[in-house]
Amino acid sequence: SRVAVLMGGLSAEREVSLVSGRECANALREAGYEVIEVDAGHDLVARLLDIKPEVVFNALHGRWGEDGCVQGILEWLRIPYTHSGVLASALAMDKQRSKEVFRAAGLPVLQSVIVPRDEARARHVLPPPYVVKPNNEGSSVGVYLVHEAANSPPQLADTMPAQVMVETYAPGRELTCAVMGDRPLAVTDIITTGWYDYDAKYKAGGSRHEVPANLPAEITQACLDYARRAHQALGCRGLSRTDFRWDETRGLNGLILLETNTQPGMTPTSLAPEQAAHCGISFPELCHWIVEDASC
Ligand code: DAL
Ligand code: MG
Repeated sequence: SRVAVLMGGLSAEREVSLVSGRECANALREAGYEVIEVDAGHDLVARLLDIKPEVVFNALHGRWGEDGCVQGILEWLRIPYTHSGVLASALAMDKQRSKEVFRAAGLPVLQSVIVPRDEARARHVLPPPYVVKPNNEGSSVGVYLVHEAANSPPQLADTMPAQVMVETYAPGRELTCAVMGDRPLAVTDIITTGWYDYDAKYKAGGSRHEVPANLPAEITQACLDYARRAHQALGCRGLSRTDFRWDETRGLNGLILLETNTQPGMTPTSLAPEQAAHCGISFPELCHWIVEDASC
């Protein structure tokens, strides 16, 4: 059947999405689909009316593609699409509101507040160490770490949104777990020498992934369980990936759920596809499953 792969788009994660989209398009061709690659610009509706795909494979990341906007367009056009629907996408992209959902589901999250950008520039909104970030971006775009010894509040760029999230900083290892439908796949330990920022995520050699992570069984089990519950609490569909931080000096109490990504990175070496591979699911098989799971 004919699949339109949406990629690129308008967000700060455009470049990441172009890579995800091309890789998924190639894998879907390999799996036997007729594939049309679509860079999602303002002419998206006209393009889709012209292409008339049976399914849309959403390989967008970030604002407009991951936050329910494109999902709403696809509902309106009655075209089945992959990954989460409107509400789950919008909830997951709003870091503050998704925490309220997680808290209500009994999942451990960090304390945070939303304040005007100017306030975060003027004073320490929380006692350092803390992190300032946009409430609705991915890939660590616009994330500021304020160290314990910092005297002054962060010099936030004018490109930061008018309202920002200020979140307690929790030290520890970066763990992540993808969920495929209702199945948590595996836990990956992301090993970096410094901060797991945009460069560490996307530059060669910026980080090393250990899958399955070498963790106490109790921590692995908790990650698998929390990732599945987070996926369900938000009402996600298809593939998602939930990120954690674990302070190993504090045992199970040191495990914190950071966020759920409803459009996880989709290059063959991205975290979720690596976990699928660990479970014996090849990249084309994963993409095929995602397409078969599409609905509207
Ligand atoms: N936001 C990036 C693409 C991820 O979560 O994988
Ligand atoms: Mg993210």
